[in-house]
Amino acid sequence: MNAASIEIDSLPRNHALDACFLGPYGENDGLLEKLMVEFLRDHVYWRRNFHPEDPPAIATATARHPDYLAFEARMRRELHQLSASLKKSVPFHSPRYLGHMVSDLLLPGLAAQMLTLPYNPNNVSEDAAPVTVDLEVQVGLQLARMVGYPHDPAQPACAFGHLTSGGTLANYQALRLALALKAFPVALRAAQVPGLELPADDWDAFNLAPPASIALLQQWQQWLATQAPADRMRWLARVEAERIEQRGLAAFFAAHPTLQPPRVLAPITAHYSWSKAVKLLGLGRDQLMLLPSRGMRMDVDALESTLTRCARARIPVLLGVAVLGSTEYGTIDPVDGMLAARAHAVRSGLGFSVHVDAAWGGYLATVFRHADGRLRTRAEMVGEFEHFPSPAVHAAFAALGDTDSVTIDPHKLGYLPFGAGAFVCRDHRAVALLAERADYVFHGPAPPDYLARYRNLGQFIPEGSKPGAAAAAAYVTHKVLPLDHANFGRLQRQTILAAEAFRARAQRFADEGTGLLRVLVPFEPDSNLVCLALNPTGNRSIAAANAFVQSLHDAMRCDPRQPVQTREFFGSVTSLRADVLGTREAARILDALGLEAFGDGEGEDRLMILRHTLMNPYLIDRENGISYIDRYFEFLWRLVQRVEAAA
Ligand SMILES: Cc1ncc(COP(=O)(O)O)c(C=O)c1O
Repeated sequence: MNAASIEIDSLPRNHALDACFLGPYGENDGLLEKLMVEFLRDHVYWRRNFHPEDPPAIATATARHPDYLAFEARMRRELHQLSASLKKSVPFHSPRYLGHMVSDLLLPGLAAQMLTLPYNPNNVSEDAAPVTVDLEVQVGLQLARMVGYPHDPAQPACAFGHLTSGGTLANYQALRLALALKAFPVALRAAQVPGLELPADDWDAFNLAPPASIALLQQWQQWLATQAPADRMRWLARVEAERIEQRGLAAFFAAHPTLQPPRVLAPITAHYSWSKAVKLLGLGRDQLMLLPSRGMRMDVDALESTLTRCARARIPVLLGVAVLGSTEYGTIDPVDGMLAARAHAVRSGLGFSVHVDAAWGGYLATVFRHADGRLRTRAEMVGEFEHFPSPAVHAAFAALGDTDSVTIDPHKLGYLPFGAGAFVCRDHRAVALLAERADYVFHGPAPPDYLARYRNLGQFIPEGSKPGAAAAAAYVTHKVLPLDHANFGRLQRQTILAAEAFRARAQRFADEGTGLLRVLVPFEPDSNLVCLALNPTGNRSIAAANAFVQSLHDAMRCDPRQPVQTREFFGSVTSLRADVLGTREAARILDALGLEAFGDGEGEDRLMILRHTLMNPYLIDRENGISYIDRYFEFLWRLVQRVEAAA
């Protein structure tokens, strides 16, 4: 019996999960159709009942008019063509899809999104979305609870979160907030606001730890409230004039010559959205320092020594980024270690924010949460998995609540439609620094009540108009499947179990291939992404190994010229780059594969590997006793033989 079939037999059946998705075969079509018809009718009744005294503006007889019929015919034709061409889409719903970070969609989210679409709410503000803007703020609180941030809006230091188009924009929002928080104390000093406990100099002001900056912001707001209205306006204008958001980077740093643009410290595994974000903010890519990793997890020693160097050279740091589920390997950075390094740096006068890019792994936090919000101990989780979570992974998730902000993508492991990313910060009071005045949309002074305040969402977020339907989808999904281990966590658990089964099956594949093929899982997976490096036995050339893996991938990638049915499985590839790996890791991997060292020639500075994202809930189909993991490796074996024979 192999590892995958052990999983098939030992997992308890949970029929509630069978109602979660439309299903690989569209099994739940009846359920979705019933919901759609019911709520479409409901929507139509709502239209009619708005002012039932208004007669129908479209005459019933119009439906027989030639112009009407011609339009309908054109519409049908185009829709049929669209529907036909969409059959070339990538079959994300299938357990044969092991490619990128996407899978089937959760029915509650899909239905809520489709239900909300005809109402077309615009979550820029309550004027355009009286219902869904609240839902978006609630989603922020749901996610805050999931990661262990304070989530009671009655408490002053409650978290705040909002949706974005994706992880890219959420990461950008993290940078924006960190910069606002970092530069604000400098503006207070420059404006010479009296009566505040201001830092001694610009360097100290630019290096406060986030809680100290927020405390100073509070002090300033309280002081301002004591001023007469005319003085208040004058002081507000004076401080605004000194802010980095007003002056721009060039003028701000010219006015504060002891400061220089701050660095962003991220692991080498960081997603390329970080490069986009530093460019967008105007900091420039030179300010993004990619730190080495160990086994594709941030090397905390390297972080510590970089921080020491920065403190010594008086180079400020804006943000330390931890990746919770790296894009290529699903590896988890030591969030706890990074927080310890930050605490140490703060003691030597170097304060900065710590952000977790959990675009991929964020929802795995559900596995670590009790229904009452408590963190589960590692001991409580033992027995639910083969290996997960390692002590390091547990410590990383346990530390999430102490970070400053987090990116989580509902459109990845949240199984919700694109585009739904999310940004959540631990203390909402910092967000006041992002407020944009747009008087034609947002009226009056900021309301003191948390929910009322964030109904003017567009003031605080990078985007303007945005779909309320995405917020409805996330909110309803989190209500139907609460973000704890007994609910949403069950889905996440399945993905981890599938990855463990995949890892075990990969070992068997490697053993069976001896003599023909060398196979290596280059980094032990922390979560639900598993990569495979492959090289035909006897081959020493990296370029030839890459050509071999490219041929394998050609048989598993989307090719718009061919029907998707010609594909047995879908997978993805990534490459191990010499500069990312470092000498020791490169030697370990290349030796194991029997390959020569990386070279400078075309295609010789990187090794192409297969990458598998194990999200589909039916990778192990216990109804029919099928392991698509087994089937994938059987397919891969046939493919290897075919490619070898053709070589
Ligand atoms: C770790 C990480 N961060 C950020 C992103 C960007 O997310 P999006 O594509 O939703 O903008 C990704 C996408 O794969 C990711 O894996």
